[in-house]
Amino acid sequence: MGIAERIVELKDEALERIATANDLETLEAVRVAYLGKKGELTAVLRGLGELPAEQRPAVGKVSNEARDAIEQALLERRAVLEREALERRIAAEAIDVTLPGRRRPLGHQHIIHQIVDEIVDVFVGLGYRIAEGPEVELDYYNFTALNHPPEHPARAATDTFYVRDLSADAPSGPIESEVLLRTHTSPVQVRVMEKQRPPIYVLAPGKVFRRDVADPSHLPQFTQIEGLVVDEGITFGDLKGTLEHFVREIFGPERRVRLRPHFFPFTEPSAEVDVSCAMCGGEGCRSCGGEGWLEVLGCGMVDPNVFRYVGIDPERYSGFAFGMGAERIAALKHGIPDLRLLIEGDMRFLRQF
Ligand code: PHE
Repeated sequence: MGIAERIVELKDEALERIATANDLETLEAVRVAYLGKKGELTAVLRGLGELPAEQRPAVGKVSNEARDAIEQALLERRAVLEREALERRIAAEAIDVTLPGRRRPLGHQHIIHQIVDEIVDVFVGLGYRIAEGPEVELDYYNFTALNHPPEHPARAATDTFYVRDLSADAPSGPIESEVLLRTHTSPVQVRVMEKQRPPIYVLAPGKVFRRDVADPSHLPQFTQIEGLVVDEGITFGDLKGTLEHFVREIFGPERRVRLRPHFFPFTEPSAEVDVSCAMCGGEGCRSCGGEGWLEVLGCGMVDPNVFRYVGIDPERYSGFAFGMGAERIAALKHGIPDLRLLIEGDMRFLRQF
């Protein structure tokens, strides 16, 4: 085969491959295969110099035409493929403005925070201020200044989470400098009274921790709301009236309140407060265990010993305190049979509130 025929053959082959190239990468590969430095046509053209002089003009013409034809075909095919690629992209990125919008689900406050806010509102309405204290607390505030004797059972490591190095020897320092997770919000009483002189009307909501295994009526971490009033002439009647107001605001006007004598180291006298059962109205039913009443909080008159720890004169001032579990109030209000539901994060449950 003469060199001119070989050139024409390569040209036809190249044009065929260009016409069937379906993307820009393939097209570029075809260009390199024929016109690149090591391309087939390039190699043939390099050999032209060895031809006899009289053949050169004719073969030169054929080879120029071949190169021009291939370059032209590459250019046209590239334009077509680029336009196709652009059209595909436009189609893929097109926004269908007729599609309905995606609704973002709106969250809402967790039921525990809802009930805390409701209770806070009731007492803020009575003129109380909000107080706070640390969740990691000193024994002094959690127990000692609240009139707990050193051997009080609540101090046992089986009931209270201590923050201590378990590998070290038993602590040798004074018991009141032990660090623990507060077991109730009552230490906030002491912290408030250390800083503020009466009249004091505060409410202190917050997390508390106890070494309890979670069951339908216990959680190892829960939320308490503490109340403290210290002023001149405060009586047990003020405490009872305040709690009755609170119960009616939260549970409804038909609910009744009952106080049962109880003991707390930091109040004297002390009481536990029950609310009449919503299901039976006090008759006794399955929901209240036949009692007709449900326990909602602990309370009492501030013990003079506590006043002495914070330097408030018990001859001049008196006061009352109360503490309740927010989860328990939420459960009683909404008829929730198991406190664990409140912390499991099951949206099917939480969405109801
Ligand atoms: N701190 C007590 C408890 O956790 C409740 C309480 C608070 C009782 C204030 C009396 C006064 O059980």
